[in-house]
Amino acid sequence: MKHIFQKGKSINSPVLLLLHGTGGTETDLLPLAQMIDKDAAVLSVRGNVSENGMPRFFRRLAEGVFDEEDLIFRTKELNEFLNEASEKYGFARDNVYAIGYSNGANIAGSLLFHYEDSLKGAILHHPMVPRRGISLPNLTDIQVFIGAGKNDPLCLPEESNELQLLLEQAGALVELHWENNGHSLTQTEVEAASKWYNSKFK
Ligand code: MLT
Repeated sequence: MKHIFQKGKSINSPVLLLLHGTGGTETDLLPLAQMIDKDAAVLSVRGNVSENGMPRFFRRLAEGVFDEEDLIFRTKELNEFLNEASEKYGFARDNVYAIGYSNGANIAGSLLFHYEDSLKGAILHHPMVPRRGISLPNLTDIQVFIGAGKNDPLCLPEESNELQLLLEQAGALVELHWENNGHSLTQTEVEAASKWYNSKFK
């Protein structure tokens, strides 16, 4: 997968996996990584799917309606890419924290829904429930921050609450942070995510 890798301060530094929203690229979230943990390594990936020229991490049938088969395939592809990248760049595979926005948050959520040891933690900005009716792997002690919008027209508050519940039922520790700015990712939300990350992992 097309990506940028930046070394961390030390070999043991956390690796921030950056996952952009629809139409974004691997450069979009680089400033967020700086705000959250400037000592961390960064692995920023571009989605392999193109929707009329807009990069995404998996196909959708309509806005908010996922192509489930492609979602499963692309989630596996990303998980395997992480395994390969850890070998190539020499970071510990169990030290990866996702930061995703919108479509990127959805594929990060899908990693958690499908693979037990895919992520150590995740910051999900405006995620949806990636799949329903499946049993989740054991997510005991995985830390998750969800940034949601009370008035987000794409990810309704009920869906944010449902995602929190599904992750918690699998053992994850979830903090749900509310904003009032629709589907946008605002400075205050990133600050809240940064505060959460630094209280858990620093
Ligand atoms: C998705 O397709 O992942 C969601 O609808 C969010 C987005 O528009 O990217």
